Amino acid sequence: MNTDKNFKLYIDGKWVNSASRVTFPSDNPAHPKQILGVFQKGNEDDANRAVEAAEKAFEKWSQTPAPKRGLILLRAAQLLRENKEKLAREMTMEMGKVLAEARGDVQEAIDMTEYMAGEGRRLFGFTTPSELRKKFCMTVRLPVGICGLITPWNFPMAIPSWKIMSALICGNSVVFKPSSDTPLCATRLVETLETAGLPKGVLNMVTGPGDAVGMTIVKHEKVRAVSFTGHRDTGNAILQAAGLKRVGLEMGGKNGIIVMDDADLDLALDGVIWGGYGTTGQRCTAASRVIVHEKVKDEFESKLVSRIKKLRLGDGLKADTDVGPLVNKAAQDKSRRYVEIGKRESAKLVIGGKVPKMDGFFFEPTLFTDCSVDMRVCQEEIFGPVVCLIPVGDFDEAIDVMNAIEYGLSSAIYTRDVNRAFEAFMRMEAGITYINSSTIGAEVHLPFGGIKHTGIGTREGGIEGINEFSETKTVFVDYSGKLQKAQIDID
Ligand code: UN1
Repeated sequence: MNTDKNFKLYIDGKWVNSASRVTFPSDNPAHPKQILGVFQKGNEDDANRAVEAAEKAFEKWSQTPAPKRGLILLRAAQLLRENKEKLAREMTMEMGKVLAEARGDVQEAIDMTEYMAGEGRRLFGFTTPSELRKKFCMTVRLPVGICGLITPWNFPMAIPSWKIMSALICGNSVVFKPSSDTPLCATRLVETLETAGLPKGVLNMVTGPGDAVGMTIVKHEKVRAVSFTGHRDTGNAILQAAGLKRVGLEMGGKNGIIVMDDADLDLALDGVIWGGYGTTGQRCTAASRVIVHEKVKDEFESKLVSRIKKLRLGDGLKADTDVGPLVNKAAQDKSRRYVEIGKRESAKLVIGGKVPKMDGFFFEPTLFTDCSVDMRVCQEEIFGPVVCLIPVGDFDEAIDVMNAIEYGLSSAIYTRDVNRAFEAFMRMEAGITYINSSTIGAEVHLPFGGIKHTGIGTREGGIEGINEFSETKTVFVDYSGKLQKAQIDID
């Protein structure tokens, strides 16, 4: 446990200083002068030590019965539940999302931890008949080995839990490198697992920069699997550097909501506000494009503008705040830069677009309209409260616009026509589709991930999380007492 504001690395069951002797602060983006803690700037040596600790712990943990591993996770879930309010408040202070959403983030971590605890009693393989007599065929799941888990700051407890809990229940040991924007949330999660009784070395955490810590883990020959959520450039670099390892990637989106002419417009408005401006637009699943049928475009746009006007910016801890700050100065600069890009591309700025006169890294909820899908603001992930409205003439054009991007994470359509709804989810190129709901809101027992440049086909959550972190072994038992040759002894 860390008892003061000087936080440590967690290696081999001990809280330790970095070999670098350098630290960095984590601040509150709503009040940047407020420092929440000082963290270790880990380096290559720390990452290597963490891998060694994970290696030492692996054998015993992998041989611990999975239901027993599950009991530790269950205890961790209970602890998270008991501390939910405190953890959510800290999260709001560390990365700015409004308190209700921070509670949701902690809840998602609880849900995933409970789910994976239960998986300890399943971890199913299967049996199937052999083509030969007196021969038995089955599969069993085995752990992969040491897993390197690299996580972003926007869901600072949920996303680490997706990866850590799935890896742990399968019997892997872990080296965890959280984002430098949310080391406090990450530390709390690790402390929780420590208190729940996780044996030393099974989970190690090294805070610090991606190039030194992250890349050392990614390249380490003893690390068997890497799972990363974050920016596409980093994901690409990881894929290139990882060599012969399992690599799971989730690298964002430019998600669209289609609003058809038969949509329930008020319902669609709720979805666009929640998907576009929730978490200040800082979700991989954010609805950053609204593809709207021209018959309802004017009505929808004017209603949307009046809803945006009502959004109150502020400290996420305050009850009347709808939209918190961006995570840091760089994120604020990025939104500002993209507003300039949009204007130059002659997207029409209807509302927002400025940095308000407030302490903290705030940015006004912004709407561009009359956009075309080839504009950079409609193609590139801004990760801020910037939404682009793209008018279309019919359903086919809407689907074309939806798919005319490099990403493929989430997608949504509002329509009352059931045939269209089915056609849409079959044709929209994304790992996730919502019908009559926004692009956001994963559930932990369902697969999460994307296609095209969002990833390389890997999914997290539910059984897919188990697939990501376990090896399937095929076992043949021949109890005939003689040599039987598959494909040859066929009569
Ligand atoms: C992400 O932004 O990487 O479904 C994940 C959602 C969230 C998770 C988003 N629960 O939007």
